[in-house]
Amino acid sequence: MSKLFSPFTINDVTFSNRIVVSPMGQYSGDGNGNATDWHMMHLGNFAVSGAGLVILEASAVERRGCVSPFDLGIWRDENAVAIDRVLSFCRKQGESKWGIQLAHAGRKGAVTPAWLGQIPLTEEQGQWVMRSASAIPYPGRETPEAMTRSDMDDVTAAFRQAAVRARDIGIDVAEVHNAHGYLLHSFLTPFANQRDDAYGGTLENRMRFPLEVFAAVRDVWPADRVLGVRLSVTDWADGGWSVDDSIVFAGRLKELGCDYITASSGGSTPDQQIPIGPGYQIPLAEAIRQAVDIPTMGVGLITEPLQAEELIANDRVDLVALGRGFLFNPRWPWHAAFALGGQIAIAHPYERSHPAMRSGDFLKPRQS
Ligand SMILES: Cc1cc2nc3c(=O)[nH]c(=O)nc-3n(C[C@H](O)[C@H](O)[C@H](O)COP(=O)(O)O)c2cc1C
Repeated sequence: MSKLFSPFTINDVTFSNRIVVSPMGQYSGDGNGNATDWHMMHLGNFAVSGAGLVILEASAVERRGCVSPFDLGIWRDENAVAIDRVLSFCRKQGESKWGIQLAHAGRKGAVTPAWLGQIPLTEEQGQWVMRSASAIPYPGRETPEAMTRSDMDDVTAAFRQAAVRARDIGIDVAEVHNAHGYLLHSFLTPFANQRDDAYGGTLENRMRFPLEVFAAVRDVWPADRVLGVRLSVTDWADGGWSVDDSIVFAGRLKELGCDYITASSGGSTPDQQIPIGPGYQIPLAEAIRQAVDIPTMGVGLITEPLQAEELIANDRVDLVALGRGFLFNPRWPWHAAFALGGQIAIAHPYERSHPAMRSGDFLKPRQS
């Protein structure tokens, strides 16, 4: 029996298998944060993929929290209506649960989409003044504004309200984006946080704002659904955020009611030295899982069915997320099920694609 294809339950939400579509920014919104037909196609593909969970891309909780002008957003009601249109269709196509990543880009926003080089926006392109822990630019980007206490209240309220919108359209899983050098990570890492108030300096102080934001989201997110956090577990650079810091932070998140951690890494400095290779972030997930005893999602160059199976079978992580592997092969779980003997629900119109159905047997009348 494949363990990758065994169900996993958190609170009242059961994922039919351990395979997750990792959140992936599409920079294909309408310019006002609304999902478009691109999202219908993109997420529609994953709706028939058989993944246990699909997490929608980083969705900005305020306009100034976007990476590019074309990010998906959830900062106003209209954005939730646009997401609901896509998910109402997607939910009918399969058994996947649906999640959303609540995000604020902080000092890494106001740039062109990835395929145009992530170049700082000009005034004509609608640039905005970014918010961050301190007025320290990410190298090559514009200088952000250091947030005041009142800015923090605004952003905390924006995260809370975004969670309410996601809750009210029936999303199963909310994931707070605390990684990749974006706003919340910018408070954690000494590379971006040089505040001299209660939100900078010691580890305790640097964790304070991200923990406040998490608590605000927890406050409105239903206890029977799932609320997780994506962490950059290490900055991969001397003097930066470390695995030990993440263990302390994840423990505090657990105390506040966090249901799972996704172990990602990097993004706060271009000087990072990442040992890229198959499953390169799995040791980070294992460190969190063992020290904090919290369900953990592994991600990063997981591409092969047997590799994913080994991670689950040996209790190294609880869930495996694939990003680029899913873009390359949106039916990855079908192939994995075929390789590992797992069960997958295939949409009726596509049933005849299964290798077992190519013999001609499909011409016989179906019993049901
Ligand atoms: C096109 C693209 C967009 C991404 N956007 C996001 C995002 O919105 N939020 C996030 O946390 N990670 C994002 N990531 C990172 C992925 O979720 C994932 O962690 C990373 O690609 C490593 O996994 P992989 O090797 O399976 O692709 C993105 C990655 C790609 C390739």
